[in-house]
Order: sequence, then C-alpha cells, then structure tokens
Amino acid sequence: MFVLVNLKTYPCDPIAVAEAVRDVNETTDARLAIAPQAAHLERVAETGAETWAQHVDPIEHGSNTGHTLAESVADAGAVGTLLNHSERRSKLADIDGAVRAAERANLETVVCANNPAQIGAAAALGPDAVAVEPPALIGTGTPVSQADPDVVEDAVEAAANVDSDVSVLCGAGISTGDDVVAAGDLGAEGVLLASGVAKADDPKAALEDLVAPL
Ligand code: G3P
Repeated sequence: MFVLVNLKTYPCDPIAVAEAVRDVNETTDARLAIAPQAAHLERVAETGAETWAQHVDPIEHGSNTGHTLAESVADAGAVGTLLNHSERRSKLADIDGAVRAAERANLETVVCANNPAQIGAAAALGPDAVAVEPPALIGTGTPVSQADPDVVEDAVEAAANVDSDVSVLCGAGISTGDDVVAAGDLGAEGVLLASGVAKADDPKAALEDLVAPL
C-alpha cells in the first residue's frame, strides 16, 4: 500500500513530519511519502523521505510567472506530484498538460477526482494513478473507505474500465490503520491523507498506527 501524506498548508513542521515518514517507512512493507508545500520541497527531500509535490503546472521552461515547473520540482528532489486536488482544481486540458509535464520531468503522477465518473476521465489521461476523494469527507475524520465504500469500489472499476495500468488510491478522512486496511479491501492500492498526520500531536505515532496492520 502507498501512503501519501499531504501537508497542504497546515502549520506543521514539514521537516519533523518528513523525518517521521522516513523512519516509519523503514519499518513497514508499505510505501510512505510526503507532499509538503512547494517552498519546503528541497529541505524535505534532503531528509531522505520520499517527497512529492502537491501540484505542478502545465508549462515548460520559459516566460511563466508564479507557476510550478515540473523540472524544478524534480530538481528539488521530488519523485512525484499530485494533480487536480479538490483544493487545487484544474481544467481538463490543464490536467492533461500537467501529466505530460510531469512525465517530461520523470515525476510519478496521482490525479485526484471527486467521484468514479471523474476517475474514469482522469484515468484516460494516462497518469500513474488516480485518487478518489469526495470533498465532503476531506478533513472530517470520517474515512471514505468506511463511510462511502461504494465510491472506492466504483472508482476502482471505473479506472480499470479505462486503463488497467492506472492504480487507484482513495482519500478523505483516512486516519487509522483500520481505514487503510478497509481501503485495500475495496481494491485501492494506496491512500492520501492529511489532517490525521499533519495535525497530529505526534505524527510519528500516527504514522506507526496507520501502517501497523499492513
Ligand atoms: O490529499 C488528501 C487530503 O485531501 C485528505 O485530507 O485531512 O481528510 O486526510 P484529510
């Protein structure tokens, strides 16, 4: 199982969380990674934790202001990027362009979507993975894998009907090992989570609980 911790812009210490991700990753068969804010990418990657960007733009080198270039993210040490997160929505054409930009920079891609229909559309763009995340459950502590299992199963089916090579993750409300196991039982190959770790008093303990049953 792939466990990607999205720090969003939560007021946590990205280096401390990255070190916890790195250390817990060494104790489990799960694959743990962290997605800090862009400004923190290089310092987080230097900890040795697998590091992802929260977004890259559909651009190349050139006259672009205030954008995130995939190559710069890779230079900073990131190995992948989220795209189209519900809190950073993109137009279809821009998602396509960002997937191509990430490929150009050898970044893995996870394209986020709200529901199975959108998962099917996202899978058609050929990312490495898609992640179904019902926005209404984000940040609630109510795990999608238990509160709305059909959306996960239907997302897995929707992606498989388009491209069986695209992995399916799920997110929203995931915070315990049981939530992660439930996601795997529904066919997800990984989870995205944020507040369960970024807002935890002890991020390392939260991560250890997440992977304990795996
Ligand atoms: O990218 C994952 C994130 O949107 C889930 O948020 O706080 O429900 O784990 P949270």
